Amino acid sequence: MLIAHISDLHCGPELEENMLKTGIEEINTLEPDLVVVTGDLTENGYLSEFKLVKHFLSKLKCNTIIVGTGNHDYKHTGYLLCQKFFPRPEVIEVNGIVIVYLSSARPDRDEGEVGLRQLLWLESILQQKYKGFFKLIAMHHHLIPVPDTGIERNTVNDAGDVLKTLTSEKVNLVLCGHKHRPWMWKLENLIIIHAGSLSSKRLRGFFKNSYNIIKVDGSHVSVKFKVVNGPELDIKDIHQPYIRI
Ligand SMILES: [Fe+2]
Repeated sequence: MLIAHISDLHCGPELEENMLKTGIEEINTLEPDLVVVTGDLTENGYLSEFKLVKHFLSKLKCNTIIVGTGNHDYKHTGYLLCQKFFPRPEVIEVNGIVIVYLSSARPDRDEGEVGLRQLLWLESILQQKYKGFFKLIAMHHHLIPVPDTGIERNTVNDAGDVLKTLTSEKVNLVLCGHKHRPWMWKLENLIIIHAGSLSSKRLRGFFKNSYNIIKVDGSHVSVKFKVVNGPELDIKDIHQPYIRI
């Protein structure tokens, strides 16, 4: 199972349109089984920005595309537009993998929150229907702080409770974004992969626009961090604060 994981497109004044176009072309040549988009599709949650991102995402060639939203999409009452343009996918099954998109964004707030009700719902569906499945959870906000991103201000408010649920329910993989810095953590048997920004000008230091190419083979997960218009990087490469390309 080949997964292309993209995040933080930020369609609007901060968009690097060439990066978005090139990134989508590169992903189409990979012919992934699944594309997961972990939010911040727009910069300000405006209608024109939602139309723009819808247009670009329609160029993706993949049978299963999961598009989630982030805190920027919820700005300026954008949460109403999210429901129209990208209704929350919730639960999808592909080739023995169950994928759940958790909503961590709240209107006009930068920090994330999953919430007790959503966590209880997640526990019940995983226990009732998906024992033995490879379990993939996608969300916008980073569950664990990411290095090289300055002072931590807006992680998930209830990250401890979310991590407890994810580890006790034997979730295999979490995909998230938000910090525009690719990274990977392993916590017990849970792998948490963070995507950089596919196409925003708001990058950190020397990090470039990038996306993740993830392979799932049984319960084994491998990842490459792909710079748009640049090389595929291994985990050891992204541990360096300066990506040399
Ligand atoms: Fe964000």
